[in-house]
Amino acid sequence: MSDRKSADTPPNLFDPALAACPHSAYQSLLDHHPVHRNAISNAPIISRYEDVMYCLRHPEIFSSDMEEQMSLGTDRPMIPQQIDPPAQTRYRKLLDPRFSHKRTLELEPSLRASAKALIDEFADAGECDFSQQFAVPLRGQAFLQIYGLPLEGLGHLIELKDGIIRPQSQAENPLDSVEVEDIRKASGRKIYDYVEDLIAERRSEPREDLMSYLLQVELDGDRLSHNEILDISFLFILGGLDTVTASLSCSIAHLATNPEARKLFSQESKDIDSAIEELLRWETPVTGIPRLVKKTVTIGDTRIEEGEMVMLLLGAANLDPREFEGADRIDFDSTRNRHVAFGGGPHRCLGSHLARMELRIGLQEWHRRIPEYRVKDGETLVYSPGIRDIRHLPLIWN
Ligand code: HEM
Repeated sequence: MSDRKSADTPPNLFDPALAACPHSAYQSLLDHHPVHRNAISNAPIISRYEDVMYCLRHPEIFSSDMEEQMSLGTDRPMIPQQIDPPAQTRYRKLLDPRFSHKRTLELEPSLRASAKALIDEFADAGECDFSQQFAVPLRGQAFLQIYGLPLEGLGHLIELKDGIIRPQSQAENPLDSVEVEDIRKASGRKIYDYVEDLIAERRSEPREDLMSYLLQVELDGDRLSHNEILDISFLFILGGLDTVTASLSCSIAHLATNPEARKLFSQESKDIDSAIEELLRWETPVTGIPRLVKKTVTIGDTRIEEGEMVMLLLGAANLDPREFEGADRIDFDSTRNRHVAFGGGPHRCLGSHLARMELRIGLQEWHRRIPEYRVKDGETLVYSPGIRDIRHLPLIWN
């Protein structure tokens, strides 16, 4: 695209073709349209790092309390993501210790064993669908382990989660908005039922898992109510499952075409952690997050009215040259890690330590067994917009 054209015509971020490689579109927004009104809904899309950080750090203006605007099959706001401080801060006080770096490390041995066992199932075949046979079950097993649930339940749980996040995939007519919304609502009901059963089981027989913790923990002498536990668990099912899977798949798809970077992982380099940060910055799996404007405000030259929804484009902020030197290329030697792939401000991702550990284990174990691989000939990878996931990622190796 010529400079003139990219300056005049903002890219359509909802174009699925763009999800595979959004980097030049992000650059165009950063350079020419830092606050750009989306052609379909007119909602402002905010791209620059400094502006995105401002919005993330000012929840009194850019609110997450938008359950009505963002209907996801729920009866009430999901906790803590759809609640603003100070109420949100109270929940984070309860949840943060459970997801600390130290606590997360306790899961490492069993997660490594899961990763190895999954690879055993297909290593000799010389091919697999990385997403379906590795990334999805690895994340799912971590989730089940944290909640103390049996592995056999994974298929059911993924179906419920998909019924909320991508109900079109379960509809007879994906273009029928009534059918799609019905599937979402029915999936929401089933998620509540699923969690209700788990609450009842753990009330009668407490264990060491997350649900038992939620039932027992107290803050200022109060326990969580039944609905609070439902609303926290609903978010874990929705938020925790897709994101790590998507990050693993985007990372491997990148490494499949980058032999130098692959070596870093197969040689057990000490730089793996910073390489993972750079992959998170470059691939930014959660491309953008919404906020509801509570007070009329001006960002750059754009006035945004109270009541408008905005999109904070994390993927673009992570490529902003005003913040990152050499932002427009991936550099595994770089030590920059101020990226916003996990968001920022009070809502910064609760599961970031866990996600990083799962990415490290997944990528290390994979490269230990399968250091050389490529995307199967003739396959074109299809990335989804929003959460940049690759549902099918066929890889082959010798
Ligand atoms: C690489 C994987 C992941 C990415 C890229 C990611 C990304 C994000 C982002 C961008 C946010 C901010 C949302 C906002 O401000 O509206 C967020 C919040 C959140 N994430 Fe993650 N996430 C990942 C993994 C996980 C995992 C494994 C869990 C499970 C514990 C998790 C649980 C949460 C929760 C509970 C919140 C809401 C926090 C709050 O509102 O206070 N995430 N995540």
